[in-house]
Amino acid sequence: MKVWDLATRIYHWLQALLFILLVLSGFKGTGPHEPLGILLFTLIVWRLLWGVVGSESSRFGSFIKGPKTVIQYLLGRYPKKPGHNPAGGWMAIAMIAALFIQCITGIIMAGLISPLENLLIKEHLNTIGRLHDAGARLLLVMVTMHVGAIIVYKLKAQPLVKAMFSGIQQQLSDTQNLYFVSMIRAVLVLIVSGAVTTSLLILG
Ligand code: HEM
Repeated sequence: MKVWDLATRIYHWLQALLFILLVLSGFKGTGPHEPLGILLFTLIVWRLLWGVVGSESSRFGSFIKGPKTVIQYLLGRYPKKPGHNPAGGWMAIAMIAALFIQCITGIIMAGLISPLENLLIKEHLNTIGRLHDAGARLLLVMVTMHVGAIIVYKLKAQPLVKAMFSGIQQQLSDTQNLYFVSMIRAVLVLIVSGAVTTSLLILG
């Protein structure tokens, strides 16, 4: 059955590509690190909005579960359902939050929000720089755990990667209907996200 809409799939693979390019340009200290970071920021703003107005499997409300449910899932007492499982949902939230914070510290360090330049002294900027560096290392650990988990699921005969490309998750019956919103809405949300970034850069 269909689990991921086209917009979420494009977002995911674009995010993975930008992440790789940002890690390479960040640690090497060369390449278009700042423009790539601004693009990733726009994408993450899009994902935050899509978590509220997007298709069912992408909405935060549909996959953020309480600790009881997560424990039930980890003990193998949770039924198989489409989309993120209760533990994977929290990992997705953690990665999206870490990427968002990483983009914010980068934007501040790049001096793209000029009112802050008058407020921040050198010590503040040093702290933000250390946070940005630690964030990059933390994200590398998280992404390694993420890809590791996907490989474990693959070994357990659950091909999640295929679903992130095709949108279709096997071994689930079509009776578990999910709702999908139009891709025009995804484009409108992208325009709003672009406007958020643009106003941040113009006002800043
Ligand atoms: C080879 C690399 C990667 C593979 C194979 C992969 C695969 C996947 C798959 C299969 C899912 C869906 C999980 C599920 O069914 O619950 C997913 C979700 C996700 N992945 Fe990846 N991923 C990769 C790289 C990355 C990278 C580099 C990042 C971040 C920098 C990332 C961030 C995310 C996030 C945030 C989600 C949640 C998606 C959402 O709900 O919007 N992934 N990934």
